[in-house]
Amino acid sequence: MQGPYLAIQSNPESEELLKEEINIRFPELRPSFSAPGFLTYKCSQGVVSEKDLTKFLPVYSLKVGMFYAKVGRKQVAEKLKQLEKDLSAPYVIDPTSSQCLEIDQLVKAQNGSLPKINDWIVWIYLYEQKECWITIYPYRPPISSFGLLPSAIPKDAPSRAYLKMAQTFARLKLNKVQDPQTFLEIGCAPGGVAYFLLQEGHFVLGIDTGDMDQKLLNSPMADRLKTIRRSVQEVRKGDIEKSLQRLSVPSFEWLANDLNLPIPMAFNEAMRISQYSQDLWGLLITLKTPSVESLPQLMTAIKKLSHSERDFCYVQALHLPAHKKECLLVALKEKACKVLEIGPLKPYFGDDQDRPKNN
Ligand SMILES: C[S@@+](CC[C@H](N)C(=O)[O-])C[C@H]1O[C@@H](n2cnc3c(N)ncnc32)[C@H](O)[C@@H]1O
Repeated sequence: MQGPYLAIQSNPESEELLKEEINIRFPELRPSFSAPGFLTYKCSQGVVSEKDLTKFLPVYSLKVGMFYAKVGRKQVAEKLKQLEKDLSAPYVIDPTSSQCLEIDQLVKAQNGSLPKINDWIVWIYLYEQKECWITIYPYRPPISSFGLLPSAIPKDAPSRAYLKMAQTFARLKLNKVQDPQTFLEIGCAPGGVAYFLLQEGHFVLGIDTGDMDQKLLNSPMADRLKTIRRSVQEVRKGDIEKSLQRLSVPSFEWLANDLNLPIPMAFNEAMRISQYSQDLWGLLITLKTPSVESLPQLMTAIKKLSHSERDFCYVQALHLPAHKKECLLVALKEKACKVLEIGPLKPYFGDDQDRPKNN
């Protein structure tokens, strides 16, 4: 299957970052159409193929697919019949497609079907209440997503960071990890992420100079939570070993990082602390990108992770709906990929730009 354009769903708040990222990272893409939350790009090789959908994966995109057709609202059903013939396979309509009566009926007719890996997903963008722009992509989580991610924050959650971890779990399907594991979280106060992880049954070792939420500390879940109340730069291997002993766990499997520090500092501390794990499964590093000026630093961090000698099987930087001007750098070891049923992935940086620069 091929299409004339790459179609991208974006968070309108992060569109400036998305456009600049594509500009510096994928010079072979040329902008074609742009409306709030939806953009298309033409590829210098002429057409966009299925393979390109695992290559052109901008950090600040919410979905990436092939543009299939643009039709009036009344013609959608007919066009989708044509699509089924062209694909020679059934498809599932993503329920986050723009809402309008015609599409609602089609979504309802599918009766809440959930896609299987490699099924075709159809996503429809309604432009100016008139035109339906139809985009398709194969379902390959977590590279591609389907449906809505969690959007509710429980009233006792200490911060909105709760939602970032809830959406990370949903996107990576981290609930497939059944046994309790230990998450070391750098920048844990006041505790929204810790609240989510503890509710999932995991252990949390947090590092922060700030105060944790008192209600969380008083809750029964807090017997699986310990904190090191110090600046991360001062934390040494021995401090972590002592705190892990207090938690009665042998090591930590996941490093989560949610520091409001510049990218090089936040990234380097995450990499340093993660070396103290005896059994690392993965890194979930949130990096703040307040403006397009921070993009070169982000690209350097992604390249360093991708070329790191620590053997990460899957490396991707993601933008989640709960993110403001920030993104999540995900790096998974082979054992995590096996349990989560995720294939290998390394980010693509244009043809000759994928070596890290030493800064
Ligand atoms: C975005 S907030 C974290 C929110 C938190 N993850 C939650 O779930 O509520 C960023 C945190 O980074 C912490 N922080 C900033 N610089 C730090 C440093 N050098 N060492 C430790 N913590 C730091 C701040 O105190 C702040 O609590």
